[in-house]
Amino acid sequence: MKLPQEVEIIEVCPRDGFQNIKTPIPAETKIEIIDKLVGCGFKWIEATSFVHPKAIPQMADAAQVLQTVKEKHAGKVSFIALAPNLFGAQRAIEAGADAITFVISASEKHNLENTKQTIEQSVAALTEVCKIKGDCKVRLAVATAFDCPFAGKVEPGQVISLIEAGLAAGADDIVLADTIGTAAPLQMEALLKPLTQKYSQLSFILHIHDTQGMGLANVVTALSLGVTRFETAAFGLGGCPFAPGAAGNIATEDLVNMLHKMDIGTGLNYEKILQVAHCIQAKLGIPPMGHLARIAACQG
Ligand code: COA
Ligand code: ZN
Repeated sequence: MKLPQEVEIIEVCPRDGFQNIKTPIPAETKIEIIDKLVGCGFKWIEATSFVHPKAIPQMADAAQVLQTVKEKHAGKVSFIALAPNLFGAQRAIEAGADAITFVISASEKHNLENTKQTIEQSVAALTEVCKIKGDCKVRLAVATAFDCPFAGKVEPGQVISLIEAGLAAGADDIVLADTIGTAAPLQMEALLKPLTQKYSQLSFILHIHDTQGMGLANVVTALSLGVTRFETAAFGLGGCPFAPGAAGNIATEDLVNMLHKMDIGTGLNYEKILQVAHCIQAKLGIPPMGHLARIAACQG
């Protein structure tokens, strides 16, 4: 199997992980955890999301969190913020986001649930976002790229037409999300093979949830097809409140450990990430989720 020598990992715990935790986390705690993640060597961290506070109360402090970590770590790390609509993107740009994850689902039903807009309306909003983005990068995140919790299997054709619309709108990057973590390796291949062939100029980012324990197997499939950018969450946190059944992301420390054992470089130190995972566990009082964090907990 031909594998890449280097992989880029984008850390999304502060957004995807925290958005799914009901108990309010003080902004200071979020900032402290982001500070520790910066110390692990990530180049890109998704810090927060600019959404309606009624939809996700946990993200009500988005501007405070983003502005603070930007000031502290300017020039060292780039910070991403998720936005579901034009207003959210405007707020993210104003707060200094280096990149926006503009989320649109390949499944019409999930897009309506998640953003209250049709795919067509979301694409129109994305076009407006790209007009005002300035130096901020715009990443189109194709949610439910494999399966939808409401409509079942999503066909590669639905993903391709959204990618086409996103590129025409001016998106800089494409993120493919297995939002509910149900894709199996052959399903990964069925989408990634045609995509990597058709868009050889693009470097896709894969965002995987590990609901059914197939996350790392899916990464290996993606690596074999030339994908070199992945989004994961320290401690294996994560989940979309508008996608029933979605469990956490692959734990970043587990992915880094696997890649290093495969002689694939990440520029990261998994032991440092594991220390952040322990800190998350202590601060948020939740049981360990990733494999390495669970082993460490058993060993006391
Ligand atoms: N941030 C803050 N407020 C927002 C907003 C945003 N991104 N988008 C809209 N609003 C405000 C509007 O200003 C308006 O305020 P008003 O009542 O004071 O005039 C109000 O919300 C209603 O606006 P509308 O455009 O009708 O939004 P909505 O109620 O249909 O909500 C979303 C749509 C997408 C903003 C909301 O459902 C949301 O934030 N969802 C979260 C999606 C998410 O994070 N999913 C998980 C990650 S993929
Ligand atoms: Zn996710």
